[in-house]
Order: sequence, then structure tokens, then C-alpha cells
Amino acid sequence: MARFAFAVLVTFAVILVAQASDPELTTDFFVPEGVNKTTLTADYFTSTVLRGGVTVVAPAKIAVKRITSALDSLPSLTGLGVSSALIKYLPGGINPHHTHPRGTEILYLLEGTLTVGLVDTTNKFFTKVLEAGDVFVFPKGLVHYQINLGKKPASAYVAFSSSNPGTVSLPITLFGSGIPDDVHKAAFKVDGYVVDKLQLPFNM
Ligand SMILES: *[C@@H]1O[C@H](CO)[C@@H](O)[C@H](O)[C@H]1NC(C)=O
Repeated sequence: MARFAFAVLVTFAVILVAQASDPELTTDFFVPEGVNKTTLTADYFTSTVLRGGVTVVAPAKIAVKRITSALDSLPSLTGLGVSSALIKYLPGGINPHHTHPRGTEILYLLEGTLTVGLVDTTNKFFTKVLEAGDVFVFPKGLVHYQINLGKKPASAYVAFSSSNPGTVSLPITLFGSGIPDDVHKAAFKVDGYVVDKLQLPFNM
């Protein structure tokens, strides 16, 4: 009996966790404030921003086009628990160490090869060189990256289990946010010169 009660408890806990990203809608879909629902057309459920793909503008080696529930993107996604992005990586292009606090990410590699890495909460590191057609999942909240170590461009379509998964990019969060140098010196056991070097790309 105790075991049954425990199972029920765990099930409820899992349901709560599963719903933690996007609260459930009590209507068919979200309608922005001030919009008359009867005037909506199929355009409300359409995004055309990926037409023509995504273009990398030098000196960057990576470009991302996101489709989220943001009002200037695809607000009909609000509360539906999904969003997506198209990413292009030139050779050497990196999507640096980051996490998505509100969503799991699933990546489908359209072209090229792509090296992916992730670290779990036990500090175990996982990495893989993906080939076109491969699918890889980055569990919610875990630190991960993608880098094109190949000689040709790579493109990926990614989807998230949240209409607004959020991104915490570690380089800018750590070294471009104003965290005092003394904190970095103590945390990483390095001198101010190293800290300045790490902050430089964000102080220009
Ligand atoms: C919404 O639009 C419909 C059709 O144009 C109109 O009949 C209705 O009065 C509008 N409702 C509001 C609240 O403006």
C-alpha cells in the first residue's frame, strides 16, 4: 500500500514537472490582448521567417532564426509548449555553452556534420559528431553546445518543449553581465589578467 501511495506521489510529481514549462490553456489557442478572435485567419498560425533559410553575416560564423511565442514572432504558440529555430553553422561556427531553462531541445541536422556536447548534473560529459539526418536531444536545463568542426556548412532545425524556452549563454552570462572581477578570481582561481581577457569580447 505504501508503495502504491509512493507511486501515485511520483506520478503526480512527474505530471507537475511535465507541466512546469507552459501552463495549460483553457481555450483552443491564445489570442493577444486587444485582438478580435473572429478576425484571425490562418496567417495567425503561420510564420514565414524561415523562407529562404537563414543567412550567416560575416564575421559571424553562425546565424539563428527563432520562432517563439514572442509577440513579434508567432504568438499563437503561447501555451502550446513548442517552439523552434533554424540554425546555420559555417565551418568553425559555434553555438557556445548554454542552457534553456524552460525547455528540452531536439535537433535535426539538415546538412553537414555537427559536433554536439552536453554535461549532466553529475558532471558527466556526452559528445557526438552528428551526420545529416541525425536527431539529438538536449534535456531541459542542461549545459550544451554545438560546433561545426567540418569543412562544409551545417544546418539544423531545432524544436523546444516550451513556447519560450529561454537561453542562458554561459560566456556572456559569466563575463558580460557585470559580475565583479574579484568573484571570478576567487571562483576560477585566476588573476585579473585572465578575467579581463575573458571579459574583452563583451566590453567592445
Ligand atoms: C469582432 O469582429 C466581429 C466581426 O467583424 C464583430 O461582429 C464583433 O462585434 C467584433 N467584436 C468585438 C468585441 O469587437
